[in-house]
Amino acid sequence: MTGLVVAMDGPSGSGKSSVSRGVARALGLRYLDTGAMYRAMTWWMLEQGVDLADPAAIAARAGEPQIVSGTDPDAPAIHVDGVDVAGPIRQSDVTGAVSVVAAVPEVRVRLVALQREIAGAGDIVIEGRDIGTVVCPEAAVKVYLTASAEARARRRSAEVAGSTVEAQQAAMAKRDTLDSTRKTDPLSMADGAVELDTTALGLEEVIAEVLRLVAERR
Ligand code: C5P
Repeated sequence: MTGLVVAMDGPSGSGKSSVSRGVARALGLRYLDTGAMYRAMTWWMLEQGVDLADPAAIAARAGEPQIVSGTDPDAPAIHVDGVDVAGPIRQSDVTGAVSVVAAVPEVRVRLVALQREIAGAGDIVIEGRDIGTVVCPEAAVKVYLTASAEARARRRSAEVAGSTVEAQQAAMAKRDTLDSTRKTDPLSMADGAVELDTTALGLEEVIAEVLRLVAERR
């Protein structure tokens, strides 16, 4: 792999997207949101009426949708079969189902291959759950972002209209449990990753800390 790769992992609401985009902008790197790819796969499965209670049904269709991700940190784009799904993939039906779809090995094999293809050219900040462990284990810089459950829920409920902190905290706890206990590529901290607790830090402080790590390790 040529060029700098920054792997950014952590649970939902830990600040991965804002931090990754800020770091990519500061260094003139590309940016890939792998969560958006799992969301896009989930959106397509829902559109197709696939029974998400049946992992075999998900596996059988996982090869069908053409998922194309942009890498511009200022305008992250995502298309499925030519349809712009940047808006729909953030809706609650997708958020509620994505961890079930993402746990299916056939889905992961397909999306990890796409992610490696994009990351292969280097010069990228790539965020997700398994980037430092599976997608880019050779990344020069690996960051694992955390924050207290309450801080993460507060951030998410500020982004989602009409939601309470309590409802977000319950929904996130459910998703985090599924993401960290699944058999294939669970969320976990990679060897060599630096853990950054963002509970008491502002966005600019976290970005500055990651930039410091990059300067030290690249
Ligand atoms: O990052 P975001 O919250 O948008 O990710 C949505 C979901 O996609 C996660 O909860 C997880 O189930 C799945 N995901 C994953 N592996 C990744 C990125 C996301 O399983 N690398």
